[in-house]
Amino acid sequence: MSMVLTVEKAPEHGDCVIFVRPGEFTREGVSPEEFEGAKLSTLIWREAGRRIAYVGLGAGPVTADLVRKAAGTGVKLLRKLGGEEIHIDCAEYPELAGFAVEGGLLAAYRFEDFRMPDARKKSTLRTITVAVGKGEGESRSEVERSTIVAEAVNYVRQIGNQPANVITPAALAEKARELAAECHLQCHVLGPKELEDGGFGGILAVGKGSDNPPRLIVLEHRPTDGKPIVIVGKAVTFDSGGISIKPGEHMDEMKFDKMGGCAVLGILRAASRLGLPVPLVGVVASAENMPSARAYRPGDVIRSYSGKTIEVLNTDAEGRILLADAVGYAVKHFDPRLLFDLATLTGACIVALGRNRAGVFTSNPDLRDQLWGLGEMAGEPVWPLPLGEEFEEAIQSDLALVKNVSGTREGGGSVGAAFIQHWVGKAPWVHLDIAGPAWVSRELPYLEKGVTGFGVRLLTRYLLSLATQGPKP
Ligand code: BES
Ligand code: ZN
Ligand code: ZN
Repeated sequence: MSMVLTVEKAPEHGDCVIFVRPGEFTREGVSPEEFEGAKLSTLIWREAGRRIAYVGLGAGPVTADLVRKAAGTGVKLLRKLGGEEIHIDCAEYPELAGFAVEGGLLAAYRFEDFRMPDARKKSTLRTITVAVGKGEGESRSEVERSTIVAEAVNYVRQIGNQPANVITPAALAEKARELAAECHLQCHVLGPKELEDGGFGGILAVGKGSDNPPRLIVLEHRPTDGKPIVIVGKAVTFDSGGISIKPGEHMDEMKFDKMGGCAVLGILRAASRLGLPVPLVGVVASAENMPSARAYRPGDVIRSYSGKTIEVLNTDAEGRILLADAVGYAVKHFDPRLLFDLATLTGACIVALGRNRAGVFTSNPDLRDQLWGLGEMAGEPVWPLPLGEEFEEAIQSDLALVKNVSGTREGGGSVGAAFIQHWVGKAPWVHLDIAGPAWVSRELPYLEKGVTGFGVRLLTRYLLSLATQGPKP
């Protein structure tokens, strides 16, 4: 399912989602107690062989996120009833039609690869049509952009939801190669031999305990010359903790520790499909963190790609070690004009912000404010957490440049950020700790259980904002 059509008026056939404000709904035989239009309440109405899903918007402001959730709620309901063509009537809110499409497409996605045939909820949904009334021109292009962004998110979810026995670092590299062929990106993969020869001591150390050797994946979108924006992603295909092994409870969720890297693939896909005029490079460090006789250990000292040394005191703080190599590589080879990293880095960030928001760490106040605003709009909210000398001091090592943990639980998100900062160099840098929002354990209005693709909407919107505003920063 991927077809999205924009029309002026919703046709009279096919299933339809209609948004309702309190007091607007008047259908004979339905009392206000049954359906009043309260926020995200629903009512299915059948007439002339079609179904209408009325979705309440409540009486408050009609925001991007509300329209996304309302459209998702309606599409999900009709999809479950076997809808084939679903129209979303957004004629009253044409400027928000893009968000309706986003909610609809994200709600249409299901991960069913491993369900037995009879348990598959056969999705019959083929097209989503969005009616934008008189808001034609600009709404139409916004709908096209949102379609590309939402499809990129679903692409990321389809890879991210695969378990660790399917998506190994090598399999992820293969996905990147396929993406490059499909989207005219350049792709370069460093395997164990190249990593060894290149001196990628960090990635190799993290991957050493596993039978599935690590990869460094590079994807490039080069529509013009000039310094690129580089986005680095952590893709740990399974994080057992290694020798510093994690407790068993929820360990299965650590198949989702690859989502920073997966999001990078999705952002490059969207950038290419949108034809963004911005040079962009994605660097994904992928390894499986396992305990074994060959695994790296607490006490080991390793030399990262840039030559900076790391004392390993906890093998479960592996993401930052991967990022040290990947960021070091990005800085050396691409001279970024702006550097992002995306990583499911710390449980501490979840403790600080909950599961809905990512932590944003940057010393650039403009970027921080801009990402905050875009996150609210994109439905991928972020909140600033501090960088500072105190965190830097907490990881000073007696043996090496830094140690990989501070030894206390205090400010864990900021300690992770302070570690990565050692490899960043001069470029403006933003670290996004997506440990909280990378996956959901319960269904939301437009997202089923599983990975969310967090970061794709946020950073693609950021890149789109650059494309329309000219070069900055
Ligand atoms: N992948 C985890 C972080 C994580 C935890 C992501 C829970 C999503 C949900 C990371 O590699 C990790 O284990 N971090 C440790 C760091 C600690 C040892 C300093 C953590 O957060 O406990
Ligand atoms: Zn870990
Ligand atoms: Zn991890």
